Amino acid sequence: MFNVDKIIVPTDFSDYSDSAFQKALDLAEACDAKIYLSHVVADAPDIFALDRFDKEGQKKIMKDLEKQSKEYFEEQIKKFPEAQKVDIETKVLRGIPSKEILSLQKKINADMVVIATHGQTAFEEFLWGNTASKIIRYSKCSVLVVRKPKYS
Ligand SMILES: Nc1ncnc2c1ncn2[C@@H]1O[C@H](COP(=O)(O)OP(=O)(O)OP(=O)(O)O)[C@@H](O)[C@H]1O
Ligand SMILES: [Mg+2]
Repeated sequence: MFNVDKIIVPTDFSDYSDSAFQKALDLAEACDAKIYLSHVVADAPDIFALDRFDKEGQKKIMKDLEKQSKEYFEEQIKKFPEAQKVDIETKVLRGIPSKEILSLQKKINADMVVIATHGQTAFEEFLWGNTASKIIRYSKCSVLVVRKPKYS
């Protein structure tokens, strides 16, 4: 039988990732699985030119971003009362989002990734966003691709 114990839900805190999280919560509850709600703080040059700062400055900026991510996690989790019934571990990673999610997948031996087609940018004329498309393409485990709410 297909066993789902560990589910990664990558999040950029958009409405799209909320709808993926919602589906992952239902799935986790049904399978008694654990959710790894994961956000990747993208390294420079994705953020403003971080290399303009010295090492200490860079560290401080990243620390602040990680702290803020934790607050966003709390807000996202609060939206879903059913989250209380599910084992959720939050993770803040740093680097290239798709790469970090794929490494996490390997590291924890995840069974499934639940990801939305789009995120913060949401150019819907493209089938999938950049992060979503790379994860879908290179994932070693099953991926549940969650569509925009009105199509799901
Ligand atoms: N930094 C990130 N950390 C974790 N998950 C992310 C991150 N960025 C995106 N995701 C996940 O990927 C999903 C799709 O977002 P993606 O970034 O691929 O599309 P987009 O923002 O619409 O387009 P773009 O390619 O311009 O960023 C999001 O809903 C979220 O689940
Ligand atoms: Mg994006």
